[in-house]
Amino acid sequence: MPIPLFDLSRQKKEQASLYESMKRAALEVLEHQEFILGREVEAFESEIVRRALQEPSSSSLNEEELSLVRKRAHAIGTSSGTDALLALLLAQDIGPGDAVITTPYTFFATAGCVHRVGAELLFCDIDPTTYLMDPEKLQKLLASLSPDAEGGLRTARGNRVKMIIPIHLFGVCCHMDAIMSLAWQYELMVIEDAAQVLGADYPSSDGPKKAGAIAPMSYFSFYPTKNLGAAGDAGLAVCQDAQLAQRVRLIRNHGMEERYYHKVVGGNFRLDALQAAILRARLPFLEKWNEKRRENAALYRAAFLQNGLLERIALPAEPWVQSGLKNHHLYHQYVIRILESAPSSSHAGLRERVIANFIKKKIGYAIYYPVPLHLQECFAYLGYMQGDFPHAESAAQETLALPIFPELHPEEIQEVVATIAQAMD
Ligand SMILES: Cc1ncc(COP(=O)(O)O)c(C=O)c1O
Repeated sequence: MPIPLFDLSRQKKEQASLYESMKRAALEVLEHQEFILGREVEAFESEIVRRALQEPSSSSLNEEELSLVRKRAHAIGTSSGTDALLALLLAQDIGPGDAVITTPYTFFATAGCVHRVGAELLFCDIDPTTYLMDPEKLQKLLASLSPDAEGGLRTARGNRVKMIIPIHLFGVCCHMDAIMSLAWQYELMVIEDAAQVLGADYPSSDGPKKAGAIAPMSYFSFYPTKNLGAAGDAGLAVCQDAQLAQRVRLIRNHGMEERYYHKVVGGNFRLDALQAAILRARLPFLEKWNEKRRENAALYRAAFLQNGLLERIALPAEPWVQSGLKNHHLYHQYVIRILESAPSSSHAGLRERVIANFIKKKIGYAIYYPVPLHLQECFAYLGYMQGDFPHAESAAQETLALPIFPELHPEEIQEVVATIAQAMD
């Protein structure tokens, strides 16, 4: 039997009540016909703050402190995660003359938006075990830049470094304490790319926090394969500052509050009411789906151990497992690495052998991401070379994403691991 990488049809079959409530939600929108922004979007924005952006339950904050935190998260529904970032960059007037730091091992959207607003892209390599921005490399990068007369940092091209965009990849948060402290030291803005981590917990030094509520700004994606997926494209920008949130709202709608009076230049980054309604119906299931993903990850770990593969394959790291926080990893993707030191043939050859076996047995897989961003054709003008970010480059060559979606069956996990074991013989 084929094993898909991701399969929403199982959700439809196995969770009839969810699909009924999605249909009801969509029909209601067709009835009230408030298709753009309006009541559905507003309700979604407040529900998502309550359900996914407030402190984890084991928070050390008391009720009074919690209520302050809660007041600070402002959510703005957008047409996609990409558009949420674009709106945030425009709201902060990032443009020509500025530079933004991010990592080269991720989905294209982040770097694409920085380019589109006319700012310079500066890449920082990843930690080879977590695939996340490496704070030590970030520190070295910042220390290597030239201080200017106003106390800022300039790139070799003369642009002023303004912002860091750490990317919480595959379901786990970056080392935000270290990143935020560097940002504070160098007076840089931070936007969390939280596209893949809705609901994740992070053990910050001042108490547990939710992904997307750690830095002053963040954004999420509800692309259908995400842990919370819409029935199409949708996204969310999050700001802790009310005035900034108001500006993002303006920018989301061509800079107008009153129709046809434009205060600033924005775009059409609006969230459709139909998508908001679908997301509202799906949001209560997020916690359970994340739980299932973690259970599947535990089954993978046991199966790899049972098959004696733990010395040949690096399983996903769990950097915050010791915190005791439940959602320390959400397994948006389950990405293994075929280890360089593995005997027999080259490691790249070994990954190809595993893939060939997957294709034969119709097992779904993906390579996230085959070409690091600094080596993409469209960024050739930046002048980066092969070897500039070795950890991003080797991750692109050695990693493999396996099926992990909540409705995956335990026997299928056994089958995936057995197929990998065969390729390793
Ligand atoms: C890490 C990351 N950033 C940004 C995005 C962009 O989100 P969207 O596809 O909703 O525009 C995605 C989603 O695909 C992503 O995975």
